[in-house]
Amino acid sequence: MKAATFSHLALVTLLGSLVLTRAAEDIVVANFEGPNYGAWKAVGQAFGPAPARGALPGQMAVDGFEGRGLVNSFVGGDQSTGTLTSATFQIARPYFRFLIGGGGYPNETCLNLRVDGKIVRTAGGPNLQSGGSERLQPGGWEVIEFLGREAVLEIVDRRTGGWGHINVDQIVQTERKPPVERRNATRELVIRKRYLHFPVKNGAAKKIVEVLEAGRVERFFDLELADGDADWWAFLDVSAWQGRKLTVKVNKLGEDSSALESISQEDAIKGAENLYREPLRPQLHFSARRGWLNDPNGLVFYRGEYHLFFQHNPYGWGWGNMHWGHAKSRDLLHWQEQPEALYPDAMGPMFSGSAVVDWKNTSGFGTNNEPPLVLIYTAAGNPAVQCLAYSTDGGKTFAKHGGNPVVPQITSGNRDPKVIWHEPTQRWVMTLYVGFDETKDGKKTTRHTIHFLTSPNLKDWKVVSQTDGFFECPDFFELSIDGKIKNKKWILTGASSEYMIGTFDGQKFTSETPKLPGHRGQSFYAAQTFSDIPAKDGRRIQIGWLQAPSPGMPFNQAMSLPLELKLLSTPEGPRLSWQPIMPEAMSRHGRVQVKPGDTKALTKQSTGLMAMEAEFEPGADSELKFTVNNMPVSYSAAKQELTVNGHRVTAPMRGGKQRLTIISDRTVLEVFASDGLVYVPMPVLAKGRQGEATVALTGAALRSQRFSATDLRSIWK
Ligand code: FRU
Repeated sequence: MKAATFSHLALVTLLGSLVLTRAAEDIVVANFEGPNYGAWKAVGQAFGPAPARGALPGQMAVDGFEGRGLVNSFVGGDQSTGTLTSATFQIARPYFRFLIGGGGYPNETCLNLRVDGKIVRTAGGPNLQSGGSERLQPGGWEVIEFLGREAVLEIVDRRTGGWGHINVDQIVQTERKPPVERRNATRELVIRKRYLHFPVKNGAAKKIVEVLEAGRVERFFDLELADGDADWWAFLDVSAWQGRKLTVKVNKLGEDSSALESISQEDAIKGAENLYREPLRPQLHFSARRGWLNDPNGLVFYRGEYHLFFQHNPYGWGWGNMHWGHAKSRDLLHWQEQPEALYPDAMGPMFSGSAVVDWKNTSGFGTNNEPPLVLIYTAAGNPAVQCLAYSTDGGKTFAKHGGNPVVPQITSGNRDPKVIWHEPTQRWVMTLYVGFDETKDGKKTTRHTIHFLTSPNLKDWKVVSQTDGFFECPDFFELSIDGKIKNKKWILTGASSEYMIGTFDGQKFTSETPKLPGHRGQSFYAAQTFSDIPAKDGRRIQIGWLQAPSPGMPFNQAMSLPLELKLLSTPEGPRLSWQPIMPEAMSRHGRVQVKPGDTKALTKQSTGLMAMEAEFEPGADSELKFTVNNMPVSYSAAKQELTVNGHRVTAPMRGGKQRLTIISDRTVLEVFASDGLVYVPMPVLAKGRQGEATVALTGAALRSQRFSATDLRSIWK
């Protein structure tokens, strides 16, 4: 009997599993494709009346959802809160699968499963810190123990501020086991080589990586870690840990992610064979070997070398993980990238700032014979503070000052200290952006100010005055009008490159002009000028961030050419002018002359890295049309107007003449007109056949003319 019962049971089990292996179909609990939430009940403001159709106003691009609709609690931004709750349903499959994005804060931004009113499963979005991505990720639960029970799903947004929203789509009950996540997966490595290489997949969910030695976090960053094939490899310099053991920890990893295993050690960076020869690598402009760059930082001339530090994300194509990258040059043209100068630390990411040579060793970081190079930066944590780091080995390595911060937080948005030495008062002067949040006519705004601070020693600072109206990345320097040493003025600028001209008494800047327009192009930002260029050289040289993307490349964005700034007299008063420090000429093409109706080629065989120079005295209605690498640039004498790739700006003639310099690189076009009073930088992606420059004339004949094109040598040797 017993045996019979057993075999009967076995048969039932076998039949049962046969039925199961026929795999019952998924039950779609919700796909949010309808015109409203249907049986789901929304409470609060965060979910609005109906599913979203992607990103909401003010949100980054949202993807990774299915169909057209999804739940997106960014209605009204991160500030709004609420819940969205399903009708009661029966749990009829062993697993749930869903797509989830947004914030990952337990109890605050989550998807909950309630059985008998109790939360029995919960999941959050992938993001827990600034940066990140709005892509929805697959998630799921195993719910075998609740089969047959009644349940409700609830989507919660109780959080305001960063990542205070949740996105959900395509919730199904299923027999397909959902992917399991490994939390805090680790791998130990004994360091034998210079670099660790991390696989990056652009657009993948960001993971948080920590590199620890003996349990202490030495490096940390987030990156779009590739679970399988990588788009490119980010490198981390681990030369300081040779022969020692490091642990790499990743906050979460998909079940079959090979990311940790694929981290490799090598002495060269991956892709080094092709470095600086990638198709969209700017050849005349600086860009980082790998990753994102933004503002130039700490521009300084020190012991015969120009140092260019920069806002750098070494591990991503987009902004984030702010480090100070570093490059140096002997001629402002050929740059050699150096190891990172500043890594994020417990005080926050390393935001923009400046550098000075402390000739008199006022800081005590060096000696009088060996003056230290001092970096002044923002540690953009909470609080956001101003800090120092210094080098006493010629700018090779940098130590952070033990007494940081040197300026406590004024407001949370204070940043970007630019420091100069003011000889007459024997004081350091810092210009610092400070934003004040205000409510004006019921609307939230920020009042932008530049605070002036002074210090005898770079360590002790006091606020001495304030000028309103400039946002971020101030710079402050003296220039002589038309090169006359006796006739000097102070210039105050902000990130937009607008500026004021005035006087300075060591404490207070008094403007003699309204805010004047800076560059006339697009996407040039956060420019800074070099400190400590010797007086006998006397040049004031600026570099700006050119927001020129390099899609598909393992690096992104570029710096402008180094620009010499001057104050030139104009009928309206003195005005800033910009002239490029020219890359080396390779070969010059023949000169041409044009008559009305002519179109002439200036080049025969060109590399496509070109400078075109034009000087002409037009007639009343002469119209000149140039093309350089297929980019159209034209000048109308009647309107005194320059058009650069469709972008129009006024460019007055000077002494009846117009002079243009057009510099064309792979991702950047820079045009200088009106003796540099009109500087038009512009990101462009070269299209079509490269290496041609043409000039055409219509309207009146030119009274004089000189047109030439030159091939320029790549700055990467
Ligand atoms: C300007 C800026 C600065 C800040 C830095 C952060 O582009 O926002 O104000 O210090 O970038 O990367």
